[in-house]
Amino acid sequence: MQTDSLADTLRQRRQRLANLFENPVVLWSGKPSARNFPANVYPFRANSHFLYFAGIPLMNAAIRLEAGKLTLFMDEATPAQALWHGPSPSRQEIAQDIGADAALPLSELLHHTTAAATLRVQDATTAEQQRQLLGRQSNGDQDLALAKALVQLRMIHDQGAIAAIRQAAAVSVQAHQAGMVATPIAKAEAEVRAAMEQVILAHGLTCAYNSIVTVHGEVLHNEHYHHALNAGALLLADVGAETATGWASDITRTWPVSGKFSPPQRDLYDVVLAAHDACIEKAKPGVEYRDLHLLACRILAEGLVDLGILQGQPDDLVDQDAHALFFPHGVGHLLGLDVHDMEDLGDLAGYAEGRQRSERFGLGFLRLDRPLQPGMAVTIEPGFYQVPGILNESQRREQYCDCVNWDRLEQFDDVRGIRIEDDVLITENGCEVITKALPTSAEAIESLLKR
Ligand code: GLY
Repeated sequence: MQTDSLADTLRQRRQRLANLFENPVVLWSGKPSARNFPANVYPFRANSHFLYFAGIPLMNAAIRLEAGKLTLFMDEATPAQALWHGPSPSRQEIAQDIGADAALPLSELLHHTTAAATLRVQDATTAEQQRQLLGRQSNGDQDLALAKALVQLRMIHDQGAIAAIRQAAAVSVQAHQAGMVATPIAKAEAEVRAAMEQVILAHGLTCAYNSIVTVHGEVLHNEHYHHALNAGALLLADVGAETATGWASDITRTWPVSGKFSPPQRDLYDVVLAAHDACIEKAKPGVEYRDLHLLACRILAEGLVDLGILQGQPDDLVDQDAHALFFPHGVGHLLGLDVHDMEDLGDLAGYAEGRQRSERFGLGFLRLDRPLQPGMAVTIEPGFYQVPGILNESQRREQYCDCVNWDRLEQFDDVRGIRIEDDVLITENGCEVITKALPTSAEAIESLLKR
């Protein structure tokens, strides 16, 4: 089978943009931000909208797109840059690789921004440059129209994108396997994190987000790695690789430090897994992602009733958001060039036109509320957490006093947080779990830990 070259893929993307959006578009890649002095910078990550059309993470560059044509604006490396950073391809060489129709120095951009729409980059220096060149303080109507067109385009992944996400996912699977193998001999979270990220770095990839490797899984985005690994604890690892061209993956597994789940841990693990499996079973075109979230909530509520933690009818408990005491986040999000794809646009990508985030306790953190379509990539990541800030809050405790058997809950005190997360591509008739090479069942996880 012949695969498209990078230049072909990029040409098709800009032609599809031209079919949706008539005005010229200028997108900036951004600049690295200084840590403390200009020569010592945070790792550079090019803007994702730029990457989608330019294909490579150029620093301090811009592209102009109009009627399917691409003009690249960037400066040649100076002798000083070559001295410190080594030789780099010329502007013409890069233009050829990405199939640009023209290539000009960055200073020429000044003459090519009339009536152009854009999207704001994250770094302040480039954002100021955008503001000055376009002569406006905030997004204009044409920028919103561009954002909507990009959401339409980037939401449905082409073959190039899918291949890249698969590559990131495959490396993330290996990273998780390495984390499990490292656990029996590791003394602290940091050692497991290092074993996992080592795999990602050794493949020439980076992390798509700050790794979460923690025995305090109840802190949803815990970015501390100093805790000791003691037998009896569960380790939650949410680690995903990103390809050199920016495509992300996002996997979470939770495993017992000792190599074997305790009976309460196993009970709760199986409840979370049942929610995970039920969502994947139902994921297909036309299904509302919000309904998958509510399905996960109901399966969790059912499981917690069976274990005697929640009391009542599962559907009523979900209607009252009682499940959110233990599952306060949404069941997942879009995945693509960003781990939460296009979240720089707020909820424009996550929420279908006319929909808004709910203020309900059990729905407020839902990041995606759209019908699924073939070519979308999403995560499915239900969890169970005992978050002190939620469970000990007096108003909530009062509100849910009849829904929770607090004495029974104490018998599960060796479970702080469990999350099971896979990356799922929506296909024509159903879905494909891109990360399925990494097992989810408790038995399979225990046997990986024995290796
Ligand atoms: N895996 C990190 C996140 O979804 O926010």
